[in-house]
Amino acid sequence: MLSFARGLNRDSEAFVVFITEKYDYKDKNSILSKDLVKKIDSFLKILKAKNIREEINSLDISEKKKCFVIKVKDKYEDYYFTEIGGKFFTYLKNFKNISSVDIYADSLNEHKDNLVKLFSEFIFGFNLKSYAFDKYKILSKNKIDKKINFKIITLYKNKIESAYRYYNAIKEGVFFARDLVSEPPNILSPEVYVQKIKKLAKLGLNIKAYNEKELKKLGLNALLGVGQGSSNETYLVTIEWNGNKQSKQKPLAFVGKGVCFDTGGISLKPAKFMEEMKYDMAGSAVVVGLLKTLALRKANINAVGVVGLVENMPGSNAQRPGDIVKSYSGKTIEILNTDAEGRLVLADALSFTEKKYKPKFIIDLATLTGAIIISLGEEYAGLFSNNDELSKNIFKSSESVNEKVWRLPLHKNYDKLMNSNIADVQNINYVGGAGAITAAQFLQRFILNNTPWAHLDIAGMAFQKKAANLNPGGATGFGVRLLNHLIKKYYE
Ligand code: BES
Ligand code: ZN
Ligand code: ZN
Repeated sequence: MLSFARGLNRDSEAFVVFITEKYDYKDKNSILSKDLVKKIDSFLKILKAKNIREEINSLDISEKKKCFVIKVKDKYEDYYFTEIGGKFFTYLKNFKNISSVDIYADSLNEHKDNLVKLFSEFIFGFNLKSYAFDKYKILSKNKIDKKINFKIITLYKNKIESAYRYYNAIKEGVFFARDLVSEPPNILSPEVYVQKIKKLAKLGLNIKAYNEKELKKLGLNALLGVGQGSSNETYLVTIEWNGNKQSKQKPLAFVGKGVCFDTGGISLKPAKFMEEMKYDMAGSAVVVGLLKTLALRKANINAVGVVGLVENMPGSNAQRPGDIVKSYSGKTIEILNTDAEGRLVLADALSFTEKKYKPKFIIDLATLTGAIIISLGEEYAGLFSNNDELSKNIFKSSESVNEKVWRLPLHKNYDKLMNSNIADVQNINYVGGAGAITAAQFLQRFILNNTPWAHLDIAGMAFQKKAANLNPGGATGFGVRLLNHLIKKYYE
């Protein structure tokens, strides 16, 4: 729970003061009593003398009250305050009986406008890190973290309060994406996924789901082929946000891979870690989360999300290695490996999006290849693009929010590796390595009108066992913050 106030609350169990690298803080407004100032000052002297390096330290003011002192760098990256917020959440976990904290924002020596932004971000980071997916812990409720009541103490109460609404919209989008990714695959079938997306219509999003019959009529056979072995129906869903109705601005398009479970199909995956393939729909979840954020913050932009939702199963009707399908683009695809299914889903989703919306650009997100994890591990997503400007903007946004991407090349020599002997294109390359790149080359074949396009391979980023500054481990929602920043900064 978060609230805002102008003065410290006597009953809260703790309060936070921010200090500079030189161990000063500002109390111009005399919010702190003389007694508190004295205690804090002598504590800071000790910290300084001992050259304590920790960013966060605690001081007992009385038996019932603590003061947390957070040291802030003089020069910092755009995402710094968000990440301190996350670190503060982790730190607070050591203090089991604290349930209310006052945060004295004005103690930081910052210009007022900056202060507003920084404190919204601090709370944003704290909230992102506090995420928990515990709905299936039915008989072991003890692990649930206690909720903490926050009060931001500042003279700029109204400003921070309204700035925070923007960050809260992003948080909601990230959490929605994490929730979708965390759901087990027996629950989150494509059908159930569609129902969850449809509930977002109440935010003003225009949502349409195409079922198998409609997809067949339209000719999205590459997508349909992937779901052929599953008893769950395949869907393509479009989610439109028309936040800028007056303008003739072409929409920004976001396309996501939504493989609700990837067994590999007839080219079956080995058993080890196969359970991780429930997160093979993470690209789509990021797209859905992003559209939710745009709607919540009433973004002044037209955008569309398109997600292909399907389950890749072996079965008596499953697609076989050797099958040839005619994609929505008209190109035929020889399926050499049914486990390279994400690109089949995206092939149709990309050309459908390009044709239907004639977007300003298309960005797709997918847990597309194991090869990208070999190349970049769990640090960077792979970025591929036919457009330098789009690519640069994505890169700059990625640096601002610390959701890192690294651009890898596309080249006609890689493209050649995807030529099939008997169809227009084949879905894997047998020679030449470069698995993440050749997958991207495959996708590029389905951008038919040279629309600026970027592909983010997020296989290493979508789900991480290890906790990080802004998530507790598990589904990360990687991409929502990045793309929201991109839209806000460069296109809105
Ligand atoms: N969903 C996988 C990619 C993946 C692997 C995501 C590991 C996250 C973690 C994708 O559908 C796949 O199976 N790709 C194959 C392609 C290969 C058959 C050319 C791969 O990467 O092994
Ligand atoms: Zn696969
Ligand atoms: Zn997959």
